[in-house]
Amino acid sequence: MYRYDEFDQTLVDERVAQFRDQTQRFLAGQLDEEEFKTLRLRNGLYLQRFAPMLRVSIPYGLLASRQLRMLAHIARRYDKGYGHFTTRQNIQYNWPKLEEVPDILADLASVEMHAIQTSGNCIRNITSDHLAGVARDELVDPRPYCELTRQWATFHPEFNWLPRKFKIAFSSSTRDRAATQVHDIGVHIVRNDAGELGYSIYVGGGLGRMPMIGHKIREFLPELDLISYLEAVLRIYNRLGRRDNIHRARVKVLVKATGPEQFARMVEAEWNALKDSNLRLQPQDIEDIKSRFELPQYDEAAAGEPGYAKQLAVDSRFASWARRNLAPHRVSGYSIVFVSLKANGIAPGDITAEQMDAVADLADRYSAGEIRATHDQNLVLADVADRDVYAVWQRLSELGLATPNIGLLTDLICCPGLDFCSLANASSISVAQEIFDRFDDLDYQHDIGEIKMKMSGCMNGCGHHTVGHIGILGVDKKGEEWYQITLGGSAEDDASLGDRTGPSVSRADIAGAVQKIVEVYLEQRSDAEESFLATYRRVGMPPFKARLYDSAETPAEALA
Ligand code: HEM
Ligand code: SF4
Repeated sequence: MYRYDEFDQTLVDERVAQFRDQTQRFLAGQLDEEEFKTLRLRNGLYLQRFAPMLRVSIPYGLLASRQLRMLAHIARRYDKGYGHFTTRQNIQYNWPKLEEVPDILADLASVEMHAIQTSGNCIRNITSDHLAGVARDELVDPRPYCELTRQWATFHPEFNWLPRKFKIAFSSSTRDRAATQVHDIGVHIVRNDAGELGYSIYVGGGLGRMPMIGHKIREFLPELDLISYLEAVLRIYNRLGRRDNIHRARVKVLVKATGPEQFARMVEAEWNALKDSNLRLQPQDIEDIKSRFELPQYDEAAAGEPGYAKQLAVDSRFASWARRNLAPHRVSGYSIVFVSLKANGIAPGDITAEQMDAVADLADRYSAGEIRATHDQNLVLADVADRDVYAVWQRLSELGLATPNIGLLTDLICCPGLDFCSLANASSISVAQEIFDRFDDLDYQHDIGEIKMKMSGCMNGCGHHTVGHIGILGVDKKGEEWYQITLGGSAEDDASLGDRTGPSVSRADIAGAVQKIVEVYLEQRSDAEESFLATYRRVGMPPFKARLYDSAETPAEALA
């Protein structure tokens, strides 16, 4: 866990005082809506359908137990008793009172947290692999590099008024778990042929109404050049990105207009002028940041101790959970535990204050006092000794946080849709609920295997629908809720945008449509090992389309 130094703390405390003053002036009528808007958007505060919405930053998804307890306190004291984890490893509160937001920010600051740069046209929260530091397929721990980038990006005087928001994600593993190729910049930590550490840089990915996969603009950037190179990319974007049209303002549109090769050349020219400046990192800078991370102390004896194998044989519920919700840890004798926030009847990503407190207790007792937020809207206890896994499962089960569905159909990503969001065309949470009900049989889900379903209530794409194996997008047709389906998207190394199946499907038919898609997959897969995505890529759209739009099964008026 990174610990603030005096400078970090002063920065955050001063910001709270500023925002308190700004809010008081707004409430006293000394600032109008427009003037206040630019100020609140610097602090993660949106005005939404029913109430303000506050987005709190969780840098690269890492939380200490005391921070999670504070998030629980905020949910209880200032909201309706729960919070909502997002796809960018942040948490949102949907019901704070405007006049209490400065108090919330002060509470956050007391545990080294804030809501700075979680909205507005600036560099947003830096995200990363939720298995950073513990994954077996990891090259090096990406978090010190994320932290360096966070410090560079925080209140950067030149990049606080970009043409549009800017998102950066890091991955250092063989498997990309951070959706880096759908970020404005994706950084892959790699080694070159000479064994030196550095980065491959992707630019111009993004979701929203113009979804695009990022382009690799540099194969290898040496380790010490990270910040100077990011600065060069941001300078080009800040200078040339469009400001005349909000829908054409993201860097992906600029990269598309120039072409990735030309964009890369412009960055290279800019970087040549910068790379020997004081933006070049010194080895000591990286060591200093690393030294501010408190890392878990592993118990070497844990490897030799009996794990949970015995319980697997005698407790089938535990075995089914272990199969889906555990991942191997790089240290033998330890496991990574996924805490599922996808229980039937609960909006995906929602968690109550009591659950947060209890997970914080579990982290203290069994997992080095730390919790991670994943971009799939779940939590992770990353450092659980095998001997403790059964006890952790028992407690998670009591808490309703042990649905054994990680990576399965009901582990779906879903945005707030019509329930909270003023931009929504259609509900997403209630559709997620119907899908839950329809696929409630976990054996059936296990048989279907890994499937990433992602759902958004409008084309802004907060629910990542375009990169879902099955994507669902809410659209408005003459005041009615309809849903467009896409198949074959992916946000991992083989990133791709999904293909539209055809005309949209009505609210009444959407859950049935998902069922048909799953049935076609089960019929078409070569064997139980062939995943949904692999099957789709092999057989293509025709069999799915035929079943979905089979007029014998689907009333004609449902298609439009
Ligand atoms: C309810 C309040 C919300 C509002 C008003 C809102 C608004 C927006 C807008 C306008 C965009 C499109 C930006 C663009 O393409 O330039 C967007 C994208 C996005 N939002 Fe939200 N959003 C909200 C909640 C959420 C939530 C709850 C999540 C996570 C579950 C989320 C995650 C994202 C992501 C991942 C993207 C697309 C990624 C990209 O930047 O390309 N948002 N949001
Ligand atoms: S996708 Fe649309 S409906 Fe869903 S949260 Fe984003 S802006 Fe709102």
